[in-house]
Amino acid sequence: MKDKFASRLKDLGTETAFAVSQDAAEFAAEGNKVYPFHLGDINIPTPANIMEAANKAMRDGKTGYNPSVGIPQLRNVLADLAGSERGVFYNRENVVIQPGGKPVIPKFIQSLMNLGDGVLYPNPGYPIYESQIEFHGGHALPYGFISSSDGFKIDRERVESLIGSNTRLFIYNNYQNPMGAESDMDEMEWVAELAQKHDLWVLSDEAYFEIQYSGKPKSIVSIPGMKERTVILYTFSKTYAMTGWRLGAAIGPEELMKVFARLSVNDESCTNHFIQYGGIEALTGSQSGAEVILNELRRRRDSLADILNQMEGISLFTPNSTFYLFPDVTDLYRHMEAQSYEDFRSKILRATGVSFCTREHFGTPLPNEDRKYIRFAYSGITVDDIEEGMAKLNEYQRSFNSVAAV
Ligand SMILES: Cc1ncc(COP(=O)(O)O)c(C=O)c1O
Repeated sequence: MKDKFASRLKDLGTETAFAVSQDAAEFAAEGNKVYPFHLGDINIPTPANIMEAANKAMRDGKTGYNPSVGIPQLRNVLADLAGSERGVFYNRENVVIQPGGKPVIPKFIQSLMNLGDGVLYPNPGYPIYESQIEFHGGHALPYGFISSSDGFKIDRERVESLIGSNTRLFIYNNYQNPMGAESDMDEMEWVAELAQKHDLWVLSDEAYFEIQYSGKPKSIVSIPGMKERTVILYTFSKTYAMTGWRLGAAIGPEELMKVFARLSVNDESCTNHFIQYGGIEALTGSQSGAEVILNELRRRRDSLADILNQMEGISLFTPNSTFYLFPDVTDLYRHMEAQSYEDFRSKILRATGVSFCTREHFGTPLPNEDRKYIRFAYSGITVDDIEEGMAKLNEYQRSFNSVAAV
């Protein structure tokens, strides 16, 4: 039967990280303890006031269809808040509510990319960009990053070498998954200049905009000339621990948002009705729940970073945002004589129970990459388990260091 499936499916990718979850689950089912650093999910409950608002809306009968662009109250508050946090003005015509942030990615591509158009996107990066570009017949142009004392920076030379006459879109994920890469003003202005010079549309994936451990986040839309050519991917998933609620939005130029609305009518009719009242409460109600989430994430980051920084064979830049660490594990990889990233991951899981994704889960390594990296997500694991898991990893890596020293 499989040969009867549509031929375009050959270009549809996936999140291969789900295979890691499955492997970890199988290992756990054999009676082993797993330390789950592979999940980009959050094991902290959604704040109670948000749950109550959604419950109340359900009891109040908000259970039917609603406008495909979302309920006006939520669009209004989101336009106000997202605009003021970014130093620009949006009104509700700029906001289309979506069932999560992820659906903004295919809608951006479907609305703006013609067959064969070039799309620049980060690699390592969120794997759905590449999947959607290729599925819709675009020309995937992955750009990489350079490790510096100030964290990971976009490889500007590579970006410039990739741009051609049919390059139309730039996907920009500041506060980045998986590396925690963050643009300084110079880099953000460079992206803006590039977009204006080459007349590119920008998808600004701001899934981690609010997950900041110090300082204030910046958005590319605040740079003059960018609001008009940028779509923000907004999501409630991370800030309010609402990953399973499926609530997000596209925020962008009004005419383009009309196209997104038409796609929404075709794809999902509307976003869940009563959930949107939870979203209003999230934005306008007490922020103490969001503070609890952020403080707990900070505690985990500090604990994990402290331990990793003391481990041999591993080096790390600690980002100020997201809930990921992306350590360089080249030395350990070599000492273990790992045959591949998958061999490295699987050996460590089986020896220690520590489960993580590798660089390869976020795209095929680019030709000039000579270092090895893995991603630790600390959103789904307690501080106690971070410490216990890292003690096991430390013991394991020491066994190789002592062999290497003989
Ligand atoms: C960079 C990035 N963008 C978008 C998303 C989508 O999140 P959601 O669909 O839950 O809003 C994620 C989720 O992990 C992400 O890491």
